[in-house]
Amino acid sequence: MQSIIEAIEQSPQQKITFADYMNLALYHPEEGYYSSGRANIGTQGDFFTASSLGEDFGELLAEQFLEMWELLGSPKTFNLIEVGAGSGLCAADILKYLHDNYPNFYEIISYIIVEEAQGLIRKQESILSLTGKENKVRWKSWDEIEDLSITGCIFSNELIDAFPVHLITIKNKELTEIYVTQSEGKIKEVISDLSTTRIIEYFKLIDINLKSNRYAENYRTEVNLGALDWLEKICGKLKRGYLLTIDYGYIASKYYHPQRHKGTLQCYYKHRHHNNPYVNIGQQDITSHTNFTALEKQGQLLNIETIKFTQQGLFLMGLGLGTRLSALSTGKYSFLDVIKRRDTLHQLIDPMGLGGFGVLLQGKGLTPEEQKRPLKGFQ
Ligand SMILES: C[S@@+](CC[C@H](N)C(=O)[O-])C[C@H]1O[C@@H](n2cnc3c(N)ncnc32)[C@H](O)[C@@H]1O
Repeated sequence: MQSIIEAIEQSPQQKITFADYMNLALYHPEEGYYSSGRANIGTQGDFFTASSLGEDFGELLAEQFLEMWELLGSPKTFNLIEVGAGSGLCAADILKYLHDNYPNFYEIISYIIVEEAQGLIRKQESILSLTGKENKVRWKSWDEIEDLSITGCIFSNELIDAFPVHLITIKNKELTEIYVTQSEGKIKEVISDLSTTRIIEYFKLIDINLKSNRYAENYRTEVNLGALDWLEKICGKLKRGYLLTIDYGYIASKYYHPQRHKGTLQCYYKHRHHNNPYVNIGQQDITSHTNFTALEKQGQLLNIETIKFTQQGLFLMGLGLGTRLSALSTGKYSFLDVIKRRDTLHQLIDPMGLGGFGVLLQGKGLTPEEQKRPLKGFQ
């Protein structure tokens, strides 16, 4: 990608951090995988997400939003902010379901999508127009949303895993950073000092000491500073309500387990995954797992308190996925539909797949009682 070569050439030491590299590979306005609109999300695409499997995921989420609204005392306006909406399917499923089943709630929802990739906004608009719900959604940047104006829920699915990460490695018991440079147009890695002391602070925050003897020389992993910045942004906008984050990932002790010595970085291209971020540049997804401990600890510093951390399988069962499974034996569906739907529902809760995703619920501006009140997805 020309923009990456130029960024390297223009940098003072002819090298950029891996986070800068990943940012260009995914979000360069014309050449980036997401921003160009090339991202192909779906069961036939580079990778699929929960809403690629059908409307169940969005519909069950909608049930959770309804309960949140009621718990907050049914305010006159309820903001639903979806961050990183991908193909737009989830928004379409949520809005169609609420429109058809809970028209009073639907009326008072203000649905905003905050989307980094301009190319995907066009896809989202066209998917939403198929359900006639495009006018219900507004696309805004964080800067266009007034500070402390949000009462409702800010949510995301597979967002944090798409943030650019710093790559670090242990050399002589010290933390060092992996940078990206080039030679005759060929991308190469080089190792040097950390680009920012924020990386040291990050490990203090999550109470992990990579300098201890438990970690081997050349241990390699990622640091997602963008996730901390993102929480700060949320804190500035959310007045009262919930932050719901769904993603694959681990708590810190598992993420930075000494045996996970190659980190979690993965690339997705035409539905195959591998770990080389320097091929198919701008044509493939690059992702790393989410460190949920970092989100919880940073949240606490910002008065965004953890309510509960659970797994997607349990979350969706609590919201009625089990009832949907039982309904398959009522004779309402054809044999083929039963087989297909059962497979879809099982995929959403499979503990080895989507069902094992983390679901983190945090709250801000809630009374202690509201903070403790159990929500259906988090029993
Ligand atoms: C892996 S996709 C997930 C899409 C969708 N949520 C789903 O479940 O199918 C990540 C999405 O997050 C968006 N994204 C990445 N960084 C973002 C940011 N800082 N702010 C808003 N959206 C972002 C990407 O452009 C893309 O739409």
